[in-house]
Amino acid sequence: MSSFKLVWVLTTSHHLHLPLASSEYIFKSYLRLHLSLHLRLHLRSQLRFPLPSHISPSSTYPVQVKQPTHFKMSAFQGKLAIVTGASKSNGVGFATALTLAQQGADVVIHYNSNKEAALKNLEAIKALGVKAIAVQADASSVTFGTDIIKATTDAFPGRTIDVLVNNAAALTAKPDLASFTVEDFESIFNINVRSIFLLIQAAEAHFSAPGARIVNVSSVVARFGLAPGNFYAGSKASLHAMTRGWSEYFAPRGINVNVALLGPIETDLVFPEDNPYVARFREDQHIKRNGTTKEVADAILFLSGTGSAYITGQVLNIDGGMTYA
Ligand SMILES: NC(=O)c1ccc[n+]([C@@H]2O[C@H](COP(=O)([O-])OP(=O)(O)OC[C@H]3O[C@@H](n4cnc5c(N)ncnc54)[C@H](OP(=O)(O)O)[C@@H]3O)[C@@H](O)[C@H]2O)c1
Repeated sequence: MSSFKLVWVLTTSHHLHLPLASSEYIFKSYLRLHLSLHLRLHLRSQLRFPLPSHISPSSTYPVQVKQPTHFKMSAFQGKLAIVTGASKSNGVGFATALTLAQQGADVVIHYNSNKEAALKNLEAIKALGVKAIAVQADASSVTFGTDIIKATTDAFPGRTIDVLVNNAAALTAKPDLASFTVEDFESIFNINVRSIFLLIQAAEAHFSAPGARIVNVSSVVARFGLAPGNFYAGSKASLHAMTRGWSEYFAPRGINVNVALLGPIETDLVFPEDNPYVARFREDQHIKRNGTTKEVADAILFLSGTGSAYITGQVLNIDGGMTYA
């Protein structure tokens, strides 16, 4: 408010029924009011609402924003992330672990059968200057969760877990209903669902609270089914409901749990272009192509960071616009 406007307000409202003060008195009053208001704003910004470090506290508004380069490069500095299924160099898991490490996170990468590939991934991650380990664990085992958490706490004593990305999964495809077996059912549900329950359960006491993030990786087929991969689609769909439950359970501790739902992504799991399902995907997609692992990793990074503080129990569709819900 300009001096002129303030003098006008004072003379026409508050002081209407008082003897008119001299303009010098009014101007001094305005100065006092202005300085005290300014001091209060300054103190408030310093004490009650500390500004983010990339914003310089300034005695005049608007505040000046410094180039937030450090924010870009190390948003996850000092954080510890676990990514399951990070063995293959062309897989979603490794892309996610690498992206988190590029942002400064120390990383636990998990693998099952592909030890050699996982160790190469480990070297690539360590070359970024962060701490990292690779842990072998079979998701069909009841010790899956405790195996990974024990290795994590042994390697990172005293640290808490900031990010858990449940990415490992398996798919069995069969041509007809009669071919599916009870063993298939148990195997797929144990690997894709039970293992995630076991890992979250084992990690519970070790999560950073508030602030930890859990991201469960799902698929578009959880929404529209997949006859030849019916158990896979069903296992992913059940993960959505369980994510809602975990979200409710962990929210009071400031721990967010979300689903990253993937469309067709260029990995070993993607359908070949001549598969009839691909034509259906393309028809439903607004962005009519397979996604890249980097595109998935960037979206998971968002769900893993501070930018998703008010998002929990949600399904983020990373599928080129294929699904909507
Ligand atoms: N690519 C797609 O088009 C697509 C679409 C929708 C959803 N998804 C989801 O994206 C996630 C990553 O898949 P991806 O495409 O990156 O496939 P991927 O390259 O085949 O990776 C699968 C990962 O899961 C691990 N895994 C498989 N069976 C396991 C078991 N019994 N115990 C422990 N780990 C096991 C593998 O470990 P080892 O190699 O060491 O055995 C591997 O690291 C999965 O959750 C998948 O359902 C992918």
